[in-house]
Amino acid sequence: MTSPAPDPFAPAKLGPLTLRNRVIKAATFEGVTREHVVSDRLIAFHRRVAAGGVGMTTVAYCAVSPEGCGTPNEIVLTRDTVPGLRTIADAVHAEGAAISAQIGHAGAVAAAARIKGVGPSPIFSPLAMKRTRAATLEDIGRITREFADAARIVADGGFDAVEIHLGHGYLVSEFLSPKLNKRTDAYGGSLENRARFAREVARAVRDAVGPNLAVLAKLNMSDGVAGGFWVDESVEVARLLEADGALDAIELTGGSSLENPMYLFRGEAPIHEMAAAFPQPIKGMFKLFGNRFLPSYPFEETYFLPYARQFRAALSMPLVLLGGITRRATIEQAMREGFEFVAMGRTLLREPDLVARMAKDEAGESLCVHCNKCMATIYRGTPSAPPCPLASLATAEERRGSPVGLLAASILPAREGRETERDERQRRRFGHHDFDARARERGRDRAARRVRQHGLRDRERREAEAERREVQRREHERGGLVRVEHGVGQQ
Ligand SMILES: Cc1cc2nc3c(=O)[nH]c(=O)nc-3n(C[C@H](O)[C@H](O)[C@H](O)COP(=O)(O)O)c2cc1C
Ligand code: SF4
Repeated sequence: MTSPAPDPFAPAKLGPLTLRNRVIKAATFEGVTREHVVSDRLIAFHRRVAAGGVGMTTVAYCAVSPEGCGTPNEIVLTRDTVPGLRTIADAVHAEGAAISAQIGHAGAVAAAARIKGVGPSPIFSPLAMKRTRAATLEDIGRITREFADAARIVADGGFDAVEIHLGHGYLVSEFLSPKLNKRTDAYGGSLENRARFAREVARAVRDAVGPNLAVLAKLNMSDGVAGGFWVDESVEVARLLEADGALDAIELTGGSSLENPMYLFRGEAPIHEMAAAFPQPIKGMFKLFGNRFLPSYPFEETYFLPYARQFRAALSMPLVLLGGITRRATIEQAMREGFEFVAMGRTLLREPDLVARMAKDEAGESLCVHCNKCMATIYRGTPSAPPCPLASLATAEERRGSPVGLLAASILPAREGRETERDERQRRRFGHHDFDARARERGRDRAARRVRQHGLRDRERREAEAERREVQRREHERGGLVRVEHGVGQQ
């Protein structure tokens, strides 16, 4: 007889830790650390998330060195950061949650921070409009040591866990990618060689922090890029990491900040908000070519679950399911499917106290509409309250029946109409090959949102579903995601 699924809101072991529940706040880069050390706004933000009931919160992207920064305003883990780390750890602990730090090296993405990007092989970085350089063997050894030093600093800061970034097109995931890694030495070629750097980093971090800190890795299941790192290879890498025994859990993600950012998020591409976050000439580039930089994908609840199931089937170590978890029922489903934890990002930006609310409400679901407008806060900075730019708008319930509600209900559809007209103009101007699919996706997203907010009729649900299938069919035809999507279909 199989044992019942664990209660997601009851305490659970994560390596040496006991978390008060199984919900982890995923790293969502806060952009409030211009001095490269913990700031008051960062503390306020994580205190709020901790008070909202998560088991553990994750301080987003902390660079292991200045060269590893993906944006110019990140924490760089040096001895100078330890006092600030202690303060934020104390604040989070006082609210009953554990705290983790995500550590990473941005590789070619670092070129966007006006640093000469380093990667497994030289590539042209569209973020910096210049070429990156290939890491030497000395670089690889040095960066591995920097990961270990950074993890030691996190431990000295009183943190409970460290999360190694092995995804999203940052340095270690660039080594995993057969598209970006063209090396002919021991770090390129075969999958075992491409995985060598990830395994060495994981081992170095574990050796640095010892057995008292939990060590997690955020691993790409798929880069979402033709010719990139795919699920089948990623499962093998996860098997190697499991056999090495350096990690307490793997958090499963996908996409690439370098090559395909919206694959990470799904939902609408926030072209206007991203354009507004940058000075000229990048602003103008976003306005003109944003649809090409940020091709969007339809949002679905637990959009990574079909891929993650393949990892669950292949591994016995704890896994963290991430991506589009917006309902209590979904968290319970993840537990039933054998995932030990879930990680949530945008839903907790929208409502930092969502976990506490879900724990009380069996039908609990998020108010986040996956519009991705919060992506721009990476560059603009996340306010401590409210973190979601839409949170100050009235909720669907509040909108109904109030004068503000009537106004909002009349404004929002008009805004959507204007966006559709804008797309139409862009299509006429640039003839974007992908326009029809994305317009349908956007229509589907809107329909799903309306269904969520206003409970539309079954016929409209069916139409939205038909649109979704059409988008998938076109994806298959286009070739980009064919292998993964076939896998999904067979689940
Ligand atoms: C504003 C914002 C910033 C993010 N910053 C990071 C980051 O620093 N590191 C990272 O690994 N993922 C980052 N992410 C991605 C999230 O961790 C997560 O993978 C993604 O949002 C999907 O989860 P969700 O559907 O629960 O939001 C960010 C997401 C958002 C919305
Ligand atoms: S509703 Fe808020 S948290 Fe959700 S995606 Fe939009 S901006 Fe981000």
